[in-house]
Amino acid sequence: MKITVVGAGYVGLVSGACLAEMGNDVLCVDVDAGRIAMLNEGGMPIYEPGLKEVIARNVDAGRLHFTNDIERGVHFGTVQFIAVGTPPDEDGAADLQYVLAAARNIGRAMTDYKLVVDKSTVPVGTADRVRAAIAEELAARGVDIPFSVVSNPEFLKEGAAVEDFMRPDRIIVGAEDDRAVHLMSALYAPFQRNHDKLVVMDIRSAELTKYAANAMLATRISFMNELALLAERLGADVELVRKGIGADPRIGRHFLYAGCGYGGSCFPKDVKALARSAHESGLRLQVLEAVEAANERQKQVLAEKVVQHFGPDLSSRTIAVWGLSFKPDTDDMREAPSRVLIGDLLARGARVVAHDPVAQHEARRVFGPLERLAYADTPLAAIEGADALAIVTEWKAFRAPDFDRMKALMREAVIFDGRNILDPALAREAGFHYVPMGRAARTAHESPAR
Ligand SMILES: NC(=O)c1ccc[n+]([C@@H]2O[C@H](COP(=O)([O-])OP(=O)(O)OC[C@H]3O[C@@H](n4cnc5c(N)ncnc54)[C@H](O)[C@@H]3O)[C@@H](O)[C@H]2O)c1
Repeated sequence: MKITVVGAGYVGLVSGACLAEMGNDVLCVDVDAGRIAMLNEGGMPIYEPGLKEVIARNVDAGRLHFTNDIERGVHFGTVQFIAVGTPPDEDGAADLQYVLAAARNIGRAMTDYKLVVDKSTVPVGTADRVRAAIAEELAARGVDIPFSVVSNPEFLKEGAAVEDFMRPDRIIVGAEDDRAVHLMSALYAPFQRNHDKLVVMDIRSAELTKYAANAMLATRISFMNELALLAERLGADVELVRKGIGADPRIGRHFLYAGCGYGGSCFPKDVKALARSAHESGLRLQVLEAVEAANERQKQVLAEKVVQHFGPDLSSRTIAVWGLSFKPDTDDMREAPSRVLIGDLLARGARVVAHDPVAQHEARRVFGPLERLAYADTPLAAIEGADALAIVTEWKAFRAPDFDRMKALMREAVIFDGRNILDPALAREAGFHYVPMGRAARTAHESPAR
């Protein structure tokens, strides 16, 4: 099939590359000329495990192309995926200007049937607006060309995006005409050879399904974060509670980790957008409002723990930060808890030395040059001479550090573990003052701190 993917970001690039991998002819279009130039020169604008290889393989095979020529993009694919950003506007609602601009471009240039696929995360009713925008452009041209609009929200996770796209749990298709359903089934057939994963529904339900999934996951995280705060006060260990409740199949083990707040390009904006949609329809989603408020608070907790230990004036302190991306295996720092922590530490006068395996270039762009913020190329270089270490992202490389080496390098042996990735017993036995999230209780096999 000939497919155009509009928007060559995390979702667009991964979708385009994986669709090409299945033998389709794919053209990725982006308005960002620098991004397209980089891709055409064999560079990668984002970090996503395995993506570089899939792109290279399909470019070499002549199945995957990149352009910033919008009209070429419209003419190329029978299927037109819209995978542009939907950032929050000032009210928290999803800003649809990029989606609608992409729709208008299609209406302005199409000359034959197009299947327009909303892959971006968009509020209920957006497909109607996309359809209206295309129809308006066709009417302005005085032409009548058939087209379909479907909703096909994406559920990939950054850090495992290629795997998720190649082996989806489910493929949601919101469609209202047979031609569209038929085309979407054919398009996704190679991704579901083992068993049927296509869930076909009406468009509005498909649009809502995406928000419901992210809102549910964010709710679990905020719930566990609040339980962690309570566990500290009550002398319990949230990690043990997590294991205790995760064993119940009705609850399940995923997404029960307490930490220093969720971030990224999806949960924060999607929770806000869903709450906003509800509000606009005259309903308050109180659970969701609480989920967001709890997360905003949680992002402050790590800095509060630093202040509790060192006092409010940190001007004589150097704090090392491990992890800048909002989660491991990505360089994405959108809404990352590290941004809040580093902002708080700098505001209190601290010097910060940060390390991240892949997000340092992004951090330099996000923070700009700041006198008291430096970067170190290795985890150990970051803690040299530091008064404390704060762990913000659970990269695998941080999980089993050499505590003795660390202690020798640091000025004071203090660790704030925002992701509970270290073994408290080992850290304390090595002489660290170790501060986890929600783990007040000592387990039976953990000896008291020395
Ligand atoms: N990132 C994720 O993990 C993820 C997962 C599932 C769904 N989503 C959703 O997918 C959508 C895209 O997210 P993303 O993270 O890939 O965004 P992104 O910001 O990484 O990429 C969006 C790209 O679209 C381009 N663009 C904007 N307007 C355009 C236009 N008119 N024509 C062509 N290109 C245009 C931008 O230049 C940018 O490169 C969002 O709605 C997001 O909520 C994201």
